[in-house]
Amino acid sequence: MMDKLLQEALEHIANASSTATLKEVEVSWLGKKGRLTNLLKELGSLAPDERKAKGQALNELKRQIIEAIANRELAVVQAELDAQAMGERLDPTLPGFTPKAGRLHPLTLVIDSVEDVFERMGFHILDYPEAETEFFNFDGLNIPADHPARDTQDTFYLTDGNLLRTHTSPGQVRAMRDLKPPFRAIFPGRVFRCEATDASHEHTFHQVEGLMIDRNVSVAHMLHSMMTLLTGVFGRQVQVRLRPGFFPFVEPGFELDLRCMVCDGAGCPVCKQSGWVELLPCGLVHPNVIRHGGLDPSEWEGWAFGLGLSRLVMMRYQIDDIRWLLSGDLRFVRQF
Ligand code: DAH
Repeated sequence: MMDKLLQEALEHIANASSTATLKEVEVSWLGKKGRLTNLLKELGSLAPDERKAKGQALNELKRQIIEAIANRELAVVQAELDAQAMGERLDPTLPGFTPKAGRLHPLTLVIDSVEDVFERMGFHILDYPEAETEFFNFDGLNIPADHPARDTQDTFYLTDGNLLRTHTSPGQVRAMRDLKPPFRAIFPGRVFRCEATDASHEHTFHQVEGLMIDRNVSVAHMLHSMMTLLTGVFGRQVQVRLRPGFFPFVEPGFELDLRCMVCDGAGCPVCKQSGWVELLPCGLVHPNVIRHGGLDPSEWEGWAFGLGLSRLVMMRYQIDDIRWLLSGDLRFVRQF
């Protein structure tokens, strides 16, 4: 009887081809209600002699079944691992994963091309603080204490008495103190104004300031550099006009306007329907500013400009609302 049982058990074990079915076989023999377990339970009702002989035989049977299951398990697990490995084998004909490529923000693209143009003309590219002192942002630039620009309605003042720079011009005085004249430099960066926002106004926007300090500097030098800049950025001829403009830190001062490149002069929200965009205020550096920079205005002169970078980006890529620039909206950035 034992031989028959063993044979039957071994057959079941051999037929189990997965760890799951092998487990079922194990339970059916050795589980709480398994066949062998039941036989062992019946031992109690036997006479002592019979119980001993049969008990030994059943225990030997149990040992053999356990051993056979353990051996089978090794083979089954190995086969399952092999099958899994086969399934995971590299198939070079499958389509790959396409990594999502990042994009450069249009502001970054334009700053890069502005820097490129000026680097080729021998300009340094400098970086100055966004949190400024009142001196560098205003007084050093010949902007008196009662000037409307210093009103808290236009300027974000910090609790420590400093402020968020309202333009990149403070870099002019800093650059004159940092560099040995003659020199040329640009300083791009963020500026801040306490303003209501609309299609052409943001509280945070970008400018590039340019400054050249030398002996015998003229408006012609300045205009030439401005035209080199604009044709470089747009990659084609542009139309500009020069108007007189007042800024306390330049004398004479000018407004260089660009024919609106969003609407080609027909009128749109960006040019406020005028066909022209104020893009490049500029002028010859005021002697007081040169003095604040630690230089002698009878020896050194210069020209400066403060380019509205955000507006330039809008012109370059035909964007009709400045608020897109800092929106962080990927649908916008992915278009460039
Ligand atoms: N800082 C001025 C502004 O933000 C712009 C400006 C005007 C800069 C004339 C200059 C300049 O360098 O010469 O309104």
